[in-house]
Amino acid sequence: MNRGANGSGAGSSEANGRSPAADMDRTGAAAESDSLTVEGLVAGYGEVIALDGVTVTASAGGITAVLGANGAGKTTLLRAVSGMIKTRRGRILLGDHDVAGRSPEQIVRAGIAHVPEGQGVIPELTVEENLRIGTMSWRGRRADRVAALEEEYTRFKPLADRRRKPASTLSGGERQMLVIARALLARPRVLLLDEPSLGLAPRVMAQVMDLVVRLSREHGLTIVLVEQNARGALAVADHGVVLNLGRVVASADAATLAADVALRHHYLGF
Ligand SMILES: Nc1ncnc2c1ncn2[C@@H]1O[C@H](COP(=O)(O)OP(=O)(O)OP(=O)(O)O)[C@@H](O)[C@H]1O
Ligand SMILES: [Mg+2]
Repeated sequence: MNRGANGSGAGSSEANGRSPAADMDRTGAAAESDSLTVEGLVAGYGEVIALDGVTVTASAGGITAVLGANGAGKTTLLRAVSGMIKTRRGRILLGDHDVAGRSPEQIVRAGIAHVPEGQGVIPELTVEENLRIGTMSWRGRRADRVAALEEEYTRFKPLADRRRKPASTLSGGERQMLVIARALLARPRVLLLDEPSLGLAPRVMAQVMDLVVRLSREHGLTIVLVEQNARGALAVADHGVVLNLGRVVASADAATLAADVALRHHYLGF
């Protein structure tokens, strides 16, 4: 495996994760870990205001859990950040750059990858064909694309074993691996994950959470983890934000949120 600060085998990402030479994106630019800050974001659907002045900071290289009940606005937040829906007000800062108002393609190119709710594999295509979608916008050499796919196969062994099989034959956990692998092919600095544990058996859910931790700790990715499974998310996150009806009702380090009995009772369901 050959991406990220650890690909060099040069020690922890804390120590060297911001080394500009450590990770090259497909345009050859240095891909550093970056913070993502959403400031005063207002977004919605027609008359519906789904986010009403939301401010969230996901620190560089950390895991930020976004929690809240059905309809709280979690998915809308990720859609707004990834440019899938227009923002009406507010800023979306990747490092120092405001990406609000850019197209989804520009936002992917800026370094933000989104794994949407409901997984999004195309069941009729093979595992490899699904993965190749992640490299479709790549310019440059075919050999680079092949190498990048091999990297993901190294990272996700079950996908390597099934590369010629239709994605419909994958288990829930393997599908989740596939969509995460596909997102990683965009060489993101920020990864937005919408309910990656949804519908998975507890053991598989734990594997997915382990993977999220690895991507953050070993590869320095900044991760925004949307989850209804608040307990599981807070167990791996550094920081947590609780949304309710499109507003932030709590924001604190993960251990503080997990210890707040009233908050758990009112908003987190555990
Ligand atoms: N495509 C849409 N058109 C109209 N309203 C929508 C649409 N998608 C979401 N909404 C509304 O926006 C609000 C926020 O929805 P959102 O999907 O962001 O919630 P969520 O926190 O992701 O919920 P869940 O946990 O169920 O996934 C809800 O009131 C929802 O009904
Ligand atoms: Mg949702």
